[in-house]
Amino acid sequence: MSNGPARDWIAARGGALQGDIVVPGDKSVSHRAVMLAALADGTSRIEGFLEGEDTRATAAVFAQMGVRCETPAPGVRIVHGVGIDGLRAPDAALDCGNAGTAMRLLAGLLCAQAFDSVLVGDSSLSRRPMRRVIDPLSRMGARIDADDGFPPLRIHGGQRLSGIDVTLPVASAQVKSALLLAGLQAAGETRVHEPHPTRDYTERMLRAFGVDIDFAPGFARLRGGQRLRATDIQVPTDFSSAAFFIVAATLVPGSSLRIRRVGMNPRRTGLLQALRAMGADIDEEPAAAASGEAVADLVVRHAPLSGIALPPALVPDMIDEFPALFVAAACASGETVVSGAAELRVKESDRIATMARGLRSLGIDVDEMADGARIRGGRLTGGIVESHGDHRVAMAFAVAAQLAGGEVRIGDIANVATSFPGFDALARQVGFALRDG
Ligand code: S3P
Repeated sequence: MSNGPARDWIAARGGALQGDIVVPGDKSVSHRAVMLAALADGTSRIEGFLEGEDTRATAAVFAQMGVRCETPAPGVRIVHGVGIDGLRAPDAALDCGNAGTAMRLLAGLLCAQAFDSVLVGDSSLSRRPMRRVIDPLSRMGARIDADDGFPPLRIHGGQRLSGIDVTLPVASAQVKSALLLAGLQAAGETRVHEPHPTRDYTERMLRAFGVDIDFAPGFARLRGGQRLRATDIQVPTDFSSAAFFIVAATLVPGSSLRIRRVGMNPRRTGLLQALRAMGADIDEEPAAAASGEAVADLVVRHAPLSGIALPPALVPDMIDEFPALFVAAACASGETVVSGAAELRVKESDRIATMARGLRSLGIDVDEMADGARIRGGRLTGGIVESHGDHRVAMAFAVAAQLAGGEVRIGDIANVATSFPGFDALARQVGFALRDG
């Protein structure tokens, strides 16, 4: 689904970045909005839905299980919920495309259903570890077969689940969410403790759908057997998509860019703290909240950056922003050290390896470590880089190219459409030099 024909970009230094832009809807929130609306009793309207391949894959999965979902306009979904016990057995494998969030949350949701199901994904998703959800779900009574811990996941329905009290070994909102979706259908109470707080969209949205749930940073608890009540959801825009423009406007001399209505969930905005510690000039102007999520206009002006030792405690709050941060570090004076970030190795690509390799091809001195990297800022040259089908790596190198001394060819960019359809057009609109190659 998301492995379209591989295409390349050719990017080069453009002008100063100027403008006033809005980025697409949040991927994490869009996935959850469709899932919970499908499970609810009644009809929900979702606005600001991300029209990306990942989130469309989630909507298609529910359509395969009998959930009617209308698209009256781009970015709007009307979901006719079937109730938590109303999904229909799918007659084929459910294709999650490139979306780890879809596969892991669906594993939790489907393992408690009455029917069998199979979750498959594209080549990148098929290399991503699933034991982290299978193990705790199995302790609840789920039966899920995988290929040595990797997709496809064969889920045996009709199991009786019991709630658990679990402390997760890795900070993962996907794993936490899978357990809460299973816990909702289990006997008794489910309690999840995290080693570091992660994004709490599932908890907030369950509450918006009428579920009685207790949560605080790093902890969530709910009772099984509750039903969801349809509600309307306003999806904030995606901080992780804004991140590429935040870094680009910071790096390119003369830039001044306003990014409107950015979702500012504190578990997502660690990049702002990191960039400010490096010297960035970013103003926040609070705007009206979207379904309880803080939103702000960000005004970003060029500023010279200096390298830092990134505090490992900041890593979970910027887990999707490392490709962009690596580019900022490559353009900063001095050395930036990232540690405590081994999770980057199991994202859409091994992001430590793909970023280190790509930056080296552009003349930057990078040492790879098991859980991070040491990046010495320098002058970027032109060259050829591979994104390995990783949307965020591709967009990060498009930013890097705006500072490079020559053309940069970025390979395998088709998956940008999983999270940020229209990135290239928006980037050109603010001043990037970027074209199909
Ligand atoms: C996500 C959680 C994070 C993040 C991913 C989206 C979510 O993954 O990297 O892009 O929507 O819950 P992990 O839970 O694996 O950290």
